[in-house]
Amino acid sequence: MPPAEYILPGVERLLISETTLHAKVSELARQISADYQGKRPLLVGLLKGSFMFLADLARELTLDCEVDFMLVSSYGNGQEATEVKILQDLTASIQGQDVLIVEDIIDTGFTLQKICGLLAERQPASLKICTLLNKPSRRQVALSVDYCGFDIEDVFVAGYGIDFAQRFRCLPYLVVAKKPG
Ligand code: IMP
Ligand code: MG
Repeated sequence: MPPAEYILPGVERLLISETTLHAKVSELARQISADYQGKRPLLVGLLKGSFMFLADLARELTLDCEVDFMLVSSYGNGQEATEVKILQDLTASIQGQDVLIVEDIIDTGFTLQKICGLLAERQPASLKICTLLNKPSRRQVALSVDYCGFDIEDVFVAGYGIDFAQRFRCLPYLVVAKKPG
C-alpha cells in the first residue's frame, strides 16, 4: 500500500516527511529554549497556517511560555501578498514582553514586514521571528529571520497546517500541491 501522500488527488509529491519535520521542530525547540532561558516568551502564532507547527513546537519548549494568535489574511495580485489584513488581533498588550512570532512560511516577506512593524510599535522587550519554511528565492522585502526550519525551493506547499485553497491542512507531513489545470 503506497503512503497516503502518493494517493491523495491534488498532491504532486511528498516534500518533507513527518519524521523529518519532528526532528527539525525538536532542534528548533532546543535552540529557542536555550536562547530564552529564564524568560517567559509570548509565542504569537499567525493563523491559520501555523497552528500545527506552534502546537508541536510549544510542547517541546522547556520554557514557561504564553501563547496568543493573530488571524492574518494576505490579498494581492496573483500570489503576492501586497495587502495584509489583520482579521483578528492579539488579545492583550505585548509591552515589555519577549515576543516570538511563529509563522508557517515566508514567501515575499510582505506579511511579516507588516506584522513586525505593527508589533514593534507596541514596545515589546524583544521581537523575533520563527518560521517553519522559507522561500528565499521569492523574497521581495528584507527580513531578518531568527529561527528557520527549512529553506525550500519555489513550489506551492501544503500540509502540516498549511493549506492549498483550504485543502490539505490536516496532513501530518508537507507536500507539493499540484498546480491547477
Ligand atoms: P508572504 O507575505 O508573501 O511572505 O506570504 C506569506 C503567506 O502566504 C504565508 O503565511 C502563507 O499563508 C502564504 N503562502 C506562501 N507560500 C505558500 C505556499 O507555498 N503554500 C501555502 N501558503 C503559502
Ligand atoms: Mg501564514
